[in-house]
Amino acid sequence: MFSAGSETTSSTFRWTILYLIKYPEIQKKVHDEIDKALPRDRLPSLLDKDQLVYTQAVINEVLRVNPIAMFGLYHAFDKDIEINGNCIPKDAIVLPSILLCHNDPDYWEDPKSFKPERFITSDGKLDINKEGFLPFSLGK
Ligand code: HEM
Repeated sequence: MFSAGSETTSSTFRWTILYLIKYPEIQKKVHDEIDKALPRDRLPSLLDKDQLVYTQAVINEVLRVNPIAMFGLYHAFDKDIEINGNCIPKDAIVLPSILLCHNDPDYWEDPKSFKPERFITSDGKLDINKEGFLPFSLGK
């Protein structure tokens, strides 16, 4: 748990800093949002998250274009199953490609571009159920 939890978060942090250097206009928007949302006389807390929609969208976009885990863990089915006409036999190892999903033009317009706005709804909220966004893989 320590290795799964430390390398993932520190790499995400480093990639985020890299993208903020690469796109100074995005960096400025994050900075302005943080300045506006967080009082200077206390430390930030998770309760402040809702005020940081753009910042969260930037982190999601970093996780989309650069998923720390390109693949999920090995999974297997406990019975034969059929998906879109393909048979996946019992006990076959299934390894979902997060990277392919995050670059699939069926889900993402212009997938190669870094666009945090794609995670913000038309009424300015964070789109938390975006189909095709699987940085933490698929679960069971
Ligand atoms: C940006 C942060 C993180 C990302 C992108 C990430 C991504 C992932 C992915 C893709 C998997 C594979 C899931 C699967 O295929 O079923 C996974 C598994 C796992 N992650 Fe993370 N993770 C992150 C942070 C963390 C943290 C903070 C912890 C613990 C404190 C953690 C602990 C674990 C563990 C224990 C597993 C294995 C779960 C299992 O055996 O079913 N991860 N993570």
